[in-house]
Parts: sequence; structure tokens; C-alpha cells
Amino acid sequence: MKRCAVMNLLKLCTIAAAVEICCSGSAAMAEATGQTQTGESLIPGEVAVNEGKILTVGYVMIGAESDWRLACNKSIREAFTRENGYSLLISDAQQKHEKQIKAVREFINQEVDYILFNPIVESGWEASLEEAAEAGIPVIGFDREVDVKAKDACTTWIGSDFLLEGRKACAWLEAYLESTGYEDSLGLVHIQGTMGSSAQIGRTRALDEALAGHPEWKLLDRQSGDFTTAKGKEVMVDMLAGYGDEIQAVYCENDNEAYGAIEAIREAGRIPGPDIASGEILVLSFDAARNGLLLTLTGQIAVNTECAPEYGPLLTQIISRLEGGDKLPARQYVQEAQFSALEHPAEIYADGQSYPVIKLTEDLIESRSY
Ligand code: AHR
Repeated sequence: MKRCAVMNLLKLCTIAAAVEICCSGSAAMAEATGQTQTGESLIPGEVAVNEGKILTVGYVMIGAESDWRLACNKSIREAFTRENGYSLLISDAQQKHEKQIKAVREFINQEVDYILFNPIVESGWEASLEEAAEAGIPVIGFDREVDVKAKDACTTWIGSDFLLEGRKACAWLEAYLESTGYEDSLGLVHIQGTMGSSAQIGRTRALDEALAGHPEWKLLDRQSGDFTTAKGKEVMVDMLAGYGDEIQAVYCENDNEAYGAIEAIREAGRIPGPDIASGEILVLSFDAARNGLLLTLTGQIAVNTECAPEYGPLLTQIISRLEGGDKLPARQYVQEAQFSALEHPAEIYADGQSYPVIKLTEDLIESRSY
């Protein structure tokens, strides 16, 4: 992780760092795709060191439900150190919405300088975010979004385009089936994430759109796996018991659910893999965390659509911009890649644009930091 002093130095550091953007994590993906990670010249992996008074930052954390979340939490802890000029207060909501509401109020009472806000679900935030605004505390939303009337409920927001992620996964499935000449109907089951979270809403909506455009894709069952391995396995066991050989593909809304689903598939005597014509169950997943990519390398996950977790450095840069009096855009999306060990498709089309499917290798996995 690189570090730069904030304010006037930030621009210089930014220019220097842009040259070496490909050192770790999603940055490896950035190099592979030739894309920058944000539209606002924030630099992945670049910590903005605060050289003024120590800033107190309250982190409204979701929990530790997934590998992705652990990588996200780690990145925030490592960026917001005292050495870098921050005092980080963490409130772990353990996936409970009420705990997050309480955490926002506690941070307001403690008069923190900034709130890092990562909501479990989109709804139910009107009152507490209004209280933060009244107290004059900037709320920086990231990862998941909120659904509130006030457009400026968060001072700024940075996160994933979950609908695009889902569309890319469905576009891959469509292109893959076409490349193999598979024309029969396809029995699909769907393991959703935490209901009401942006990640679930976007990825589910994308699948619904794809199902509407593909009458030959039959949705057999849909249940929430709450983004965890244990629940992912539990619902896959249930789906296999209910639909058995009819299941040809499973759309898992994150890697941990895919780990659980793969365990269940094996225990049922089936094989997770892309060869559906021979009875394998094709697994689609999101996140591209290390273990997810290892399973992708062996084809047990056929395609893994990335969700970038390393927000710590980006959030320090956002704070440094706000400290410098900059007005930031209401929303910024991070750029994300897609990985598969299969040769085809090498490219997919989603939202009227083409995206490369990055051919996964051991070296690529090793070059990533999570
Ligand atoms: O909000 C990001 C999602 O939440 C990730 O896909 C998932 O792994 C996490 O728990």
C-alpha cells in the first residue's frame, strides 16, 4: 500500500502512483483491463496521509460474513492508522440493521469528524442520516447504497455497479452456451445474497432481466444464502433435494455462497463444472476473492465477476479531498473485471459495451492481495 501526504501533495503523488497502478489487489485487474478504477482519479492502493490534526473516523461496518468483507475491513484498518493521521472507531453490526442505526447515532454523539457508512440494506436510513446531516458530520457511503429521498443524504458515495456485475455474469452465461452450441433448456437455481442489500438487488435484477430474455432458461428455485458459506450450502442442499438432476447451473451472488454450493454439489455426488451436457453443474459467482479464484482456476466456478473490496485507500483520498474543500460527485463507481479459466468467451457484451473476460492464471491470482 502506498502512502502520500494529503492536500497539495496529493496531486503529485497521484501522478507518480498512476504509473505503477498494477501492484496489488484489483489493481492487477486494472492493468489487465487497461481501465482505471474510478472516474475521479482516485488511485487504488494509495493512502492519503493526513498531516493535520488527527481525524476521528467512525466506521459503520456490516460484519464478517464473507471473504470479500474480511478483505474490505482489512483494507480500512490498514489505511486508517494513527500513523497515517486517523483515529478509527469501528462498530461491527454483525449483519444487523438495527445495530447499524445505533452505530450511526453513537458516532454522532461522539462527534466524530467523518462517518464511513457501509449499509447492510438500502432502506430504513432516513432518520439517522438526517441526524448526521443536522450534526454537520459528513457521511461517506461506500460499497452498498441507500434508498432515501434526500439525494445528499451521504456527502459522497463510492461503490460497485451491482446491476452491471449481474449483467456481465448473465452475458457470460449466454455467450458461453452459444460458444458450446448448447441449445436445450437450462435448469437454473439462484442463491441470493442478503435480501434488501444493493449487491443482492442489482445481481438479482440482472438475472431477472436475463430470464425474461431467455424463455429456455428455467428458474427452478431461488433462496437467500445471506452471503455466507454455511447458508449457501444449506440452501443448495435443499435445492438439490428438491430438483436433483434438473439443476444444470447455479447463480451464486457471492464467492462464499459458491463455496457452500460446491460442497453441497459434491456431497450429492454431482460435479461442479462447466460441462452441463455431461451432467456437471455450472457455477457462477461474484467477488473474485482468492479462494473463489482458485475454484475458478479449476473450473469449479465457471465464471467469477469481480466485486472490488479494497476501499481503505480510496476512502482516505476522499477524506483528503473533503478536507481540502473539494466538492465530490454524489456517486462514483469502481471498475471491476471478470475472470474465467475457460477459453471462451473471451469477451462479453453488457449495457451496450464490450468487456474482456480475463483468462485466469496462477500468476494472476498470486499477484492479487486478497
Ligand atoms: O456488498 C458487497 C458484497 O457483500 C460482496 O459481494 C459479498 O461477498 C459481501 O458480503
